[in-house]
Amino acid sequence: MSGDGSVRAWPEFQQRWSELRNVLLSSDLTRGFSYNVPPLERIVEEVCADECAVMRSGIKSSSFDLTDISGELRRRSAAEALRTRFVLAHFDLHRSFGAPGQLFEGLEEQWVEPWRAQLRSHGFTFDRVFSILFAAGPHSATNYHMDFTHQLAWQQYGDKHWHALNEPDRWTTKALRYDTKSMLQLSKPAAVGARDIYTVVQRPGSALWNPQATPHWVETFSEPALTLTLVHAGLRLHGRLCPHEQEREDELLTVRVPSLAAAGLLSSRSSERARY
Ligand SMILES: [Fe+2]
Repeated sequence: MSGDGSVRAWPEFQQRWSELRNVLLSSDLTRGFSYNVPPLERIVEEVCADECAVMRSGIKSSSFDLTDISGELRRRSAAEALRTRFVLAHFDLHRSFGAPGQLFEGLEEQWVEPWRAQLRSHGFTFDRVFSILFAAGPHSATNYHMDFTHQLAWQQYGDKHWHALNEPDRWTTKALRYDTKSMLQLSKPAAVGARDIYTVVQRPGSALWNPQATPHWVETFSEPALTLTLVHAGLRLHGRLCPHEQEREDELLTVRVPSLAAAGLLSSRSSERARY
């Protein structure tokens, strides 16, 4: 581990990938990231116009505010929108914007596939790795939650403040970690105090590893921000899931397969979307 707590090299990543702790990744792990992102205003304009985009209020609170503000945001120019509070998400960049001439042409070839190759060459396998996007206006937040997949967040514009808990298992339960319905209603526990929280500030160009089932919340302050994120579904090292995903798999297989399958909640993409 480096002085700032970041993961310096692949052997260390192989040890720490499943810890419930958000960490920055050093350039040793991200040196294959060569994609040049389009201008921020163009991204916001085109993603907002896409029917699959999700737009929420971004109000800072202890839990998700699921108010849909798409109508309001689409009435504004991108330049105007970027001066307001909002959270914008898109959960399939390749399918919507990856074709030749489209907004994210080259992202798959220049970022996603090289990262998949790096994972494979270091003993990892996965069901899917795919790219999604989060953008936020100033003074906006994605409030307290946990994710069902491991995520690699590559910051492109602005700073993001990632807050998480020093002792995550003290504040969660097995039931909360696998129950999609209760994930929609999570609130930051009222007893969480300043001493229970650590913060990682993510600057443009940096990459942050956000392991599955890590309770966290993300804020912007004076400026908007945009992050390209890789979702890792079914990530295994030497054939083994992380302990929390294995716990969830075991539970789903033994108890909940019929009801979750019927609700369409078994795919990681629909689980990610369900939160927003
Ligand atoms: Fe998250």
